[in-house]
Amino acid sequence: MKIFSFLKYYLIAKNEHAIHAPFLYNLYCYLKKDCLVDFNHIETIRNQLLNNNTIIDLDEIGMGSKVLHTKKRKISSIAKTSLSTQKYSILHHKLIQYFKPKTIVELGTSFGINTLYLANANPDAVVYTFEGSKKIAEIAKNNFIARKNITLIEGNFDVTLEKTLNHFAEKVDYVFIDGNHALEPTLHYFELILHFSNEKTIFIFDDIHWSDEMEMAWKQIKMHTNVTLSVDLLYLGIVFVSKKLSKQHFVLKY
Ligand SMILES: C[S@@+](CC[C@H](N)C(=O)[O-])C[C@H]1O[C@@H](n2cnc3c(N)ncnc32)[C@H](O)[C@@H]1O
Repeated sequence: MKIFSFLKYYLIAKNEHAIHAPFLYNLYCYLKKDCLVDFNHIETIRNQLLNNNTIIDLDEIGMGSKVLHTKKRKISSIAKTSLSTQKYSILHHKLIQYFKPKTIVELGTSFGINTLYLANANPDAVVYTFEGSKKIAEIAKNNFIARKNITLIEGNFDVTLEKTLNHFAEKVDYVFIDGNHALEPTLHYFELILHFSNEKTIFIFDDIHWSDEMEMAWKQIKMHTNVTLSVDLLYLGIVFVSKKLSKQHFVLKY
């Protein structure tokens, strides 16, 4: 997280009193309510990963479907740095309970902890989650054994995303872009998925202030002609494309 973005956010972020549009006001109030669901069955898996010091070969993937490096890393250290925190996985849970999307796409599975939250939030939905690192995907698959509504697609997004979207019978309703955090790929995945979206599709972008490139990507996404309402919650950004909403941007406390 860039320190300047962090400070700026705390200076300008507003709460529900700054929201006049009922659509966002109601949603924001809902998101701020406590969530009383028990997620222990998922958090137990996170804790096992955080305590697992096994070393695995980690493929670092770049654009053009190339494996750039294979590094050795402890499962525990990947779990510490790569997974969405429970706070933000619960935010996804709430968004899914509120909007009830049927087809969910997650770019970047890692060990699948967040994927379990996505799948748990609406058992009628199907979650397509994409992961390029073989060893990581193997562990995620193991975490998904008991889940019927998760499909893990292995390989580089640059190859697998379009191919998979082309086979969808339904439009994508909910998208979480959380991998390959650079300007070009982020915009490319957004444009690509837009072709398979509908009026109600919600896009969530992770790490929007993580680097200059991600700042730039977020700025361009907000200005995109298809984007109407956008909400900056610091660690992630929410984007709506419904033409029924007026084009507005909010920075809200969360
Ligand atoms: C930040 S982690 C995902 C975390 C997960 N969504 C969560 O919320 O806990 C990003 C993952 O994306 C994968 N990844 C990054 N670039 C990729 C690419 N071009 N193709 C496939 N996987 C990629 C990485 O291997 C990594 O496991």
